[in-house]
Amino acid sequence: MHANYEKLDSPQGQAKAGLSEDGYHLSQKEFDDNIYYTLGTMAAGIVHEIRNPLQSIRSTMQLVELKYKDKIEHLHQYIQPLLEELNAVNEMLTQFLHLARVESKIIDLADLTQICHRAVTLMQPQAMLYGVEIRERYLSDLPSLLCDARRIQQILINLLTNAINARKRGGKIVICLSLDTSKTKFVLRVADDGLGIGEEVLQKIFDPFFTKGCKDGVGIGLTISQQIAKEHGGILSAASKKNVGTVMTLILPLQTPINS
Ligand SMILES: Nc1ncnc2c1ncn2[C@@H]1O[C@H](COP(=O)(O)OP(=O)(O)O)[C@@H](O)[C@H]1O
Ligand SMILES: [Mg+2]
Repeated sequence: MHANYEKLDSPQGQAKAGLSEDGYHLSQKEFDDNIYYTLGTMAAGIVHEIRNPLQSIRSTMQLVELKYKDKIEHLHQYIQPLLEELNAVNEMLTQFLHLARVESKIIDLADLTQICHRAVTLMQPQAMLYGVEIRERYLSDLPSLLCDARRIQQILINLLTNAINARKRGGKIVICLSLDTSKTKFVLRVADDGLGIGEEVLQKIFDPFFTKGCKDGVGIGLTISQQIAKEHGGILSAASKKNVGTVMTLILPLQTPINS
């Protein structure tokens, strides 16, 4: 195992690790709120304009199949892939909605350790499928956080999904939660020993719709995650080294600037 990776295998080690000094490339991009406003307006418009006709197309296709299935050979085989394509477009629209912040927020005091553990539990089947081990390292007796737990969990699911996808097979992921030295911020890290990200690509990973190497990628997982972090007064950054691995770091203030 790489020395840097060893150091990350404990909450204290992760909090202290000077990743850039260890030869990791760093990426941390913040977007102007205007870009989200524009995307949000666009997304709401697109969803409105496309969802209804999509539903009509879908119903008509199902009706055609029902009516002509005895008359046209292999009709189901023709129709089914089209319905799947429609579902994919629908999924894309749902992703747009996330980006548009159309969903309502539920702000409450939550246990960040539990949120992490729940995200890991949800991702465990996918990790097992790829033969990836997920290790959890949480500092005990951490304070509660005023947050939208579902959205924070969404960040973790996005990070874990990327970490699982970033490899051919096998390996491990360490998810680690601790406090910074001043004890005013949570430090949450998802470290993987996957393929890593080259310096040039690393500068683009938070860009909306940037995707590379992931077959079902839409390219907005990190954009959304960054946005959620920002809404909680936090910041999401990436450090990576090609063929060594990637460390995603989410810093969240103990006192989030959000109101319940
Ligand atoms: N842990 C990681 N290891 C390697 N590459 C990553 C990792 N996380 C993100 N990336 C890169 O960043 C890109 C953007 O990620 P994301 O915004 O989640 O979109 P998507 O996963 O849909 O491609 C990915 O396509 C991938 O190239
Ligand atoms: Mg992703």
